[in-house]
Amino acid sequence: MAAFGSSTQAIPDTGEVPRHVAIIMDGNGRWARKRFLPRVAGHKRGVEVLRRVIQACVERGIEYLTVFAFSSENWRRPTEEVSFLMNLFVSALTEEVARLHENGIRLKIVGDLSRFEPRLRELIAEGERTTAGNGRLTLTIAANYGGRWDILQACNRLARALPEKCGEWSESDLTPFLAMAHAPEPDLFIRTGGEQRISNFMIWQLAYAELYFTDRLWPEFDARTLDAAIASYRRRERRFGRTSEQLQGGDAGALPEAAATQTQDA
Ligand code: IPE
Ligand code: IPE
Ligand code: MG
Repeated sequence: MAAFGSSTQAIPDTGEVPRHVAIIMDGNGRWARKRFLPRVAGHKRGVEVLRRVIQACVERGIEYLTVFAFSSENWRRPTEEVSFLMNLFVSALTEEVARLHENGIRLKIVGDLSRFEPRLRELIAEGERTTAGNGRLTLTIAANYGGRWDILQACNRLARALPEKCGEWSESDLTPFLAMAHAPEPDLFIRTGGEQRISNFMIWQLAYAELYFTDRLWPEFDARTLDAAIASYRRRERRFGRTSEQLQGGDAGALPEAAATQTQDA
């Protein structure tokens, strides 16, 4: 059932350009504050930046872009900021879906959508439906998303789907139920805004991602910053548990026979 392998089970194919880039777009509030603007001005600017970054990803042949727009913890912010963000989400979907569709982009939203207003939920469903057949780039927006929420909802759905195997579930039983089942695991993770933490983003899928942190605030992010992150990614040696010598010698470093049989995709 799983469309994509797991980096802890098999060694994924990696290329010059990351196939999947995941970004925590952080620093909007600080960007605005530096300019004596209300924090929300930073969020507004952040949407414009995202539009340009999507374009840059398409131009570079990146197949999947996943961005963290609103975390399950962001409800703790002042009510006015939360409602501004919700309205911004509505207006961005209203204005951008047609453009995404014209550019061959498939839109996916992941997160616990049950807490959103019906109007927003409708726009999300409509946006996903309209763009479902596109294949140039898959843009996933994580909204009211939390990595722990995702793992738990996947476990609960698996428990209902496969109760007879309870106690013996494997990674490949679980992964189809994760919210990101439509995408391979991220190759490159970027966080803007200077913090060096994951903040409950894709904690399952980031197991073997290359991490890149920049002090640049999200509203200042551009194609050049993206290229710097990709250049850094290219310099990394992705070992997936193997030794450097194995990689140099072209040894795939396959799992021993017995282990391989146990962990192969069911
Ligand atoms: C990220 O920017 C956007 C959201 C979390 C919605 P922030 O709003 O966290 O900006 P800072 O970190 O306060 O500067
Ligand atoms: C993470 O940013 C979530 C988003 C960018 C949507 P936060 O600004 O909420 O993260 P913390 O609270 O500083 O870790
Ligand atoms: Mg922040």
